[in-house]
Amino acid sequence: MGKILHQHQSKNNNSCRKLVFTVFLVCILGFACILNLSWASSFSFTSSYLSFASNWVSQKPRIFVARQQQQHNVDDKTGNKRFLSATFADLPAPDLPWEQMPSAPVPRLDGSAIQIKNPFYVLSGYGTLDYVHSHVDVFNFTDNTWCSRFDTPKDMANSHLGVATDGRYIYVVSGQYGPQCRGPTARTYVIDTQTRKWRSMPPLPAPRYAPATQLWRGRLHVMGGGKENRHTPALEHWSIAVKDGKALEKEWRTEIPIPRGGPHRACVVVNDRLFVIGGQEGDFMAKPGSPIFKCSRRHEVVYDDVYMLDAEMKKWKVLPPLPKPNSHIECSWVVVNNSIIITGGTTEKHPVTKRMILVGEVFQFHLDSLTWTVIGKLPYRVKTTLAGFWDGYLYFTSGQRDRGPDNPQPKKVIGEMWRTKLKI
Ligand SMILES: *[C@@H]1O[C@H](CO)[C@@H](O)[C@H](O)[C@H]1NC(C)=O
Ligand SMILES: *[C@@H]1O[C@H](CO)[C@@H](O)[C@H](O)[C@H]1NC(C)=O
Repeated sequence: MGKILHQHQSKNNNSCRKLVFTVFLVCILGFACILNLSWASSFSFTSSYLSFASNWVSQKPRIFVARQQQQHNVDDKTGNKRFLSATFADLPAPDLPWEQMPSAPVPRLDGSAIQIKNPFYVLSGYGTLDYVHSHVDVFNFTDNTWCSRFDTPKDMANSHLGVATDGRYIYVVSGQYGPQCRGPTARTYVIDTQTRKWRSMPPLPAPRYAPATQLWRGRLHVMGGGKENRHTPALEHWSIAVKDGKALEKEWRTEIPIPRGGPHRACVVVNDRLFVIGGQEGDFMAKPGSPIFKCSRRHEVVYDDVYMLDAEMKKWKVLPPLPKPNSHIECSWVVVNNSIIITGGTTEKHPVTKRMILVGEVFQFHLDSLTWTVIGKLPYRVKTTLAGFWDGYLYFTSGQRDRGPDNPQPKKVIGEMWRTKLKI
């Protein structure tokens, strides 16, 4: 790992020592700690996915981290043993000089972002698995401050939104309503960022969870995503004509279905073409019968697919794949100098431990040559980053970061913001 990650690691070690000491004190004070430790060490989706109050406790089982650092025995096709470290999916990448900026007012996972030159709107998302946001935080790139916030409509989705903008209006299509693993809604809204007034739009023909969404040629396009149960991939593609924040039609029109459905993909319109990048099939879904719709892990497959639709909209073209499968990148991209830049994500699970693996690279897709390169490393691996670009700087904020340089599993939900001067 490079310089920055090493620095990061030594900082980590210090704070770990403090944490161990704190945990030790707390342990003296009561048995609650014992309960918490056993909860934290029985690794599950839930313990990795939330919760700020417990983070310092789950830092304690360093045994767990140590175990992760061990190499895993794998049989390859020839029957020979080989070793596969937890970090095997990391690609070689140059370090980038990241500068930490003011953190967002709240941490968020599975939030969304829209940049309208300056400012940068950061919408909704989970705070913890049991708490979802229903507001927008606004960042000013000129003075690098989080300068305001405003609420979202009460019955608008809270995470996994489909978002797009025309440079003034922000369209918010469907998404998950409520915490844990509740299902998606079909409700759709638009806000005028100049007056900050929300208006409702015709609902999608069916609820969608994290659909690929973009504005293209005067129509709002929505495709893929997860169906009502949050898990089943949807292939449908709909569009509706919009102008100045109003739908010009009463109903969504059916368009050519996407070759592969599922949530968490980047959807970008550039040079009059629509690109759909990465994503996955399957996702966590509510445990059957759970009154709180408790999340339970289900089979999921992450893809490196890149699809493109040209202006004729007759046929999807398959383009060269991402350098590795990557998902949870719906708002993790910017367009700079005829390239799409993507920050972080999640890749396929570890083949042996089946743990989730986060992505820490920055990818560049060159729109002239249709080729991919890995142009750098983030300060850590992180998924559902919200990316922006201003005055030569690539920014990212929010998401869920890894457990440390040697452990790519998801852990803390963050509001941190970072930037680096981009030279591509
Ligand atoms: C951003 O901050 C600058 C400097 O304080 C200010 O002049 C500008 O109006 C702000 N922009 C927005 C969009 O808030
Ligand atoms: C984009 O291209 C221009 C012109 O070649 C160059 O000056 C600029 O530095 C490039 N931007 C980035 C972020 O590399």
